[in-house]
Amino acid sequence: MDADELIRLISISRDRPLLPESYIPWQNPIGADEYFLPEHLNSLEGTEIYKTLDLRQKLELGRHEVVQVMYSYAWGEGLFCLFMNKYIMGLSPDNLEYQFLLRELIEEFRHQEMFSRSILKLEGKPIKISPGHRIIGNITTKLLPVDCLFMGSLSIEMVSDRYGNFARKDPKTYSLLRKVFELHQIEEGRHILFTKDMLAKFTAKAGFIRRTVYSFVVLFNIYFLRTLYVKKEIYQRVGISNPALAYQQAKRNYKEKFTQSCLMDIISFVDSWNGFNTATRWAWRWLMGANV
Ligand SMILES: [Fe+2]
Ligand SMILES: [Fe+2]
Repeated sequence: MDADELIRLISISRDRPLLPESYIPWQNPIGADEYFLPEHLNSLEGTEIYKTLDLRQKLELGRHEVVQVMYSYAWGEGLFCLFMNKYIMGLSPDNLEYQFLLRELIEEFRHQEMFSRSILKLEGKPIKISPGHRIIGNITTKLLPVDCLFMGSLSIEMVSDRYGNFARKDPKTYSLLRKVFELHQIEEGRHILFTKDMLAKFTAKAGFIRRTVYSFVVLFNIYFLRTLYVKKEIYQRVGISNPALAYQQAKRNYKEKFTQSCLMDIISFVDSWNGFNTATRWAWRWLMGANV
């Protein structure tokens, strides 16, 4: 990215900040015909069990799942902030990358607060990440090299961008959440521009092994995000009589949905630097059901 473009992105962030405090209509209650999550993003929509749910249960399912989505974004962004903080310590204040990443950190902290405030507003009770997720998250933040961490964060940003787009564009999504996703998408759009450009330098000189590693980093990050979402406890809360069966159906169903609706951008991104090869293709097919 040339200096002018970087200066432009920094200035937008400084001069036209989107403050959740004023941008989000915090006082708006949910409208009578609104839902928390577009129906097709619900994990159970499309299964036999979903047909047996009443309207209130469907609404509740959306509320619990959108809480889970916002919780996992905030958690993932918190982890990335930890890493960015360490990374910028090695840069000089007159460095443009340093200045941009400081703006990104400010925005990411605002996002985390926005998500947690929304969760409170929705009276949500997020189901905490598993110890396995926590351990992997902490280890990767501490041990992975810079390029891999940016790669991982970009893949999560791209999925959340896609997801937010569905929620934001659906006029029946709860007005407060529509604005939350809109704000997030605008700012993440700038982060994606920067990160993609930064990674272009790394991928241009990467050989077979490096590309394989990048491909796995992206894959595991997305898998990580997806598995934070479908939770048996949510089906219990909604009052489904056989939550274990619902969980099994939802896992399969959501894997397919996720592949169809959220994966396209990621696949073309990975493909753009030849991340699909004999060492990686099987894993993408197996874990993501991706047709690569
Ligand atoms: Fe964010
Ligand atoms: Fe971001």
